[in-house]
Amino acid sequence: MTTTERGRQPTLTGRRVRLRPWRPDDAAAVLEACQDPEIQRWTQVPVPYTKEHAEGFVAGIAPQIWDEGGALFAVEPLGGAALVGSMGLFPPQDGVGEAGYWTAPGRRGRGCTADALRVLTDWALDVVGVHRVELLVDPANTGSRRVAERAGFLAEGTIRQRFLHRGQPSDVVLYARLATDLRPGA
Ligand SMILES: CC(C)(COP(=O)(O)OP(=O)(O)OC[C@H]1O[C@@H](n2cnc3c(N)ncnc32)[C@H](O)[C@@H]1OP(=O)(O)O)[C@@H](O)C(=O)NCCC(=O)NCCS
Repeated sequence: MTTTERGRQPTLTGRRVRLRPWRPDDAAAVLEACQDPEIQRWTQVPVPYTKEHAEGFVAGIAPQIWDEGGALFAVEPLGGAALVGSMGLFPPQDGVGEAGYWTAPGRRGRGCTADALRVLTDWALDVVGVHRVELLVDPANTGSRRVAERAGFLAEGTIRQRFLHRGQPSDVVLYARLATDLRPGA
């Protein structure tokens, strides 16, 4: 699926943030961030979220996603080391990848997530070689919809009750950026 060497985890640099490989010593920050009700509301993280989940995320899930041809990055600020959040690309199929993310509550509202998503998507289109990156966002998740739009994604429509989210049929807005779309800011 990819022009990226399997298992190789690059570091990507944006205007505000750096995307780097997860490390075992990130587990404490992941554990703290994933107690956030908004992350638990809008993502598929386990609830309750335990130390074992955090350790499994950085040392098990992250390498597995890379092994399967996807990507899972820790996001940190340029010039700093504190964890901002997580930015990932599920293993692409048929040249289509799906991105997913969360940002720690104390790190929001600074444009970091939109920057990280733009960087991930540019890399997926230019280096990994997918032709389309998608996002599936709950219509009520205003923050994530704004992040998507800020990163150059276009809303293509609402898919009704297509997914089960914590046991409930849920609508999603399908967003996408294509390799042939104008780049955000261009
Ligand atoms: C959604 C989330 C990722 C936003 O992260 P963030 O770091 O605050 O986003 P940014 O600072 O990059 O914001 C980008 C834009 O979105 C806007 N925005 C962010 N959160 C918002 C909110 N709750 N309501 C309205 N606008 C919001 C910002 O004002 C900014 O707008 P601008 O481009 O006009 O300046 C974060 O709140 C989060 O992790 N939520 C829980 C997990 C989640 O929803 N993940 C996505 C699942 S699809």
